[in-house]
Amino acid sequence: MAFYVTTPIYYVNAAPHLGHAYSTIAADVMARHMRQRGEDVFFLTGTDEHGEPVALAAEKEGVSPQVLADRNAPRFRDLMPRLNASNDFFIRTTDAEHGAKVQEILTTIRDNGHVYEGTYEGWYCPRCADFKTDAEAGENHTCPIHRIALTREKEDNYFFRLSAFQDDLLRLYDEQPDFVMPRHHYNEARSFVAGGLQDVSLSRATLSWGVTVPWDPGHVFYVWFDALLNYYSALSYARPGEDLTQRFWPAQFHLIGKDILKFHTVFWPAMLMAAKLPLPEHIFVHGFLLMRDDAGEEHKMSKSLGNVLDPFAAIDEFGTDALRYYCMREVSFGHDGSVSAAGFAARYESELANDFGNLASRIIAMVHRYRGGTVPDAAPDAELAAELDAMAGEICALLDRADLSAALDAAWQRVRRLNRFVEEQAPWTLAKDEARAGELDSVLSSLAEGLRVVAVVLHPWLPESTEKLLGALGAPEIALDRARVQPGRLGAVARLDPLFPKPHG
Ligand code: MSP
Repeated sequence: MAFYVTTPIYYVNAAPHLGHAYSTIAADVMARHMRQRGEDVFFLTGTDEHGEPVALAAEKEGVSPQVLADRNAPRFRDLMPRLNASNDFFIRTTDAEHGAKVQEILTTIRDNGHVYEGTYEGWYCPRCADFKTDAEAGENHTCPIHRIALTREKEDNYFFRLSAFQDDLLRLYDEQPDFVMPRHHYNEARSFVAGGLQDVSLSRATLSWGVTVPWDPGHVFYVWFDALLNYYSALSYARPGEDLTQRFWPAQFHLIGKDILKFHTVFWPAMLMAAKLPLPEHIFVHGFLLMRDDAGEEHKMSKSLGNVLDPFAAIDEFGTDALRYYCMREVSFGHDGSVSAAGFAARYESELANDFGNLASRIIAMVHRYRGGTVPDAAPDAELAAELDAMAGEICALLDRADLSAALDAAWQRVRRLNRFVEEQAPWTLAKDEARAGELDSVLSSLAEGLRVVAVVLHPWLPESTEKLLGALGAPEIALDRARVQPGRLGAVARLDPLFPKPHG
């Protein structure tokens, strides 16, 4: 089965921060998990380089938008391998192939009768690149997200007849209650549509940084129409000489932050309907990473508020797996949650180093101490094996609905279960009594196999350390059908350095 997952494409107006890394890590967990299931996966991420957010930042720095984009896009591209993201392609909306596809699809939308000329008059946030209705504008016509004054815009441009799609969108929402997930964001999106839709600007005449409108070259397309189409255009040129559109479109999951819900849950399906293209299956809306200020109040982590955690610095100190784990563990996926350097260090210590790292070190050390480094070929504890065997199925069901937090928790329960098993069985006591050698064999085989099974399942979250661990266990296969207790699977095991050593603070 084909599985296509995307992240938002990131504005290149500044350096990446942890909020950007967050969406990418989440999509990567899903992509890796689906590959473990043997699915045909395509995972896309990239950068959004046109429009006012980038043009304004370039102006401030005294360079052209292209120079700024060329300077900043590699910072996002380079973040991907640092995060160990397994993206199959990195799209830049300044790619010529993308621009040509945008022109093609929007011309189709026009040919289908959904575009007209008109005058826009109203409020606009240049940082969101969003035309705000009175209801969306904050106090005194400010942007509720960026807290800057909205500008009053009046310009002649082309409009997309969004209002004509209200009924079709409501039908979509009624027929596919999992089109937008989780439920609270579905409700938000549906009520936005039910509240009535206004037509939206499709082009801008006052801006030159964008994809040229082919039927009126004095205009560029409004950046959101250009940006949303990345999900579709990338498939047509990601592999030179090959068009992957048939194979992967429509996408199974677009993962997005809740700040861009309206564009993805209203504009995007309407655009696809207007172009007569199939709709994505699910749009999963995650929450914000928040930071507390000195007064203890929580704010969205964002460049404009200046309260960002640098993912590169966190990786230097704790490693990539730790960052992936922390982001996925600390904040319930689909909700907002606070993050902090102190919280990161605490989870690193108590969960990665203690729960998981020490478990691995102890088990391997006991196999060496008591059985010369070879896992005994003995029947494992049946109850423990049953609990471990149930895990992969649970995790598949949870990840089918992008419940990344519950899935990670289901795996972590087993890590803790194995720790309890060590304490309950006290192999060090069994080892003192020759008559109980058979019991010790069974305990060691249960633990080593349990460790292997847990490592297979945790691989999408912790790719680097689980690979190291599975290598030491002499069982590198990560296909999910390996996540079952197989007596006799393991033999000689290698010694293992601590998986989560003291950080390089
Ligand atoms: N370029 C648009 C998206 C176009 S998609 C067709 C954009 N870019 S952005 O760089 O401003 O933000 C993109 C995404 O980054 C957000 O939707 C969200 O997924 C992620 N995040 C940015 N800050 C975040 C947090 N503080 N917390 C969680 N995610 C955040 O909007």
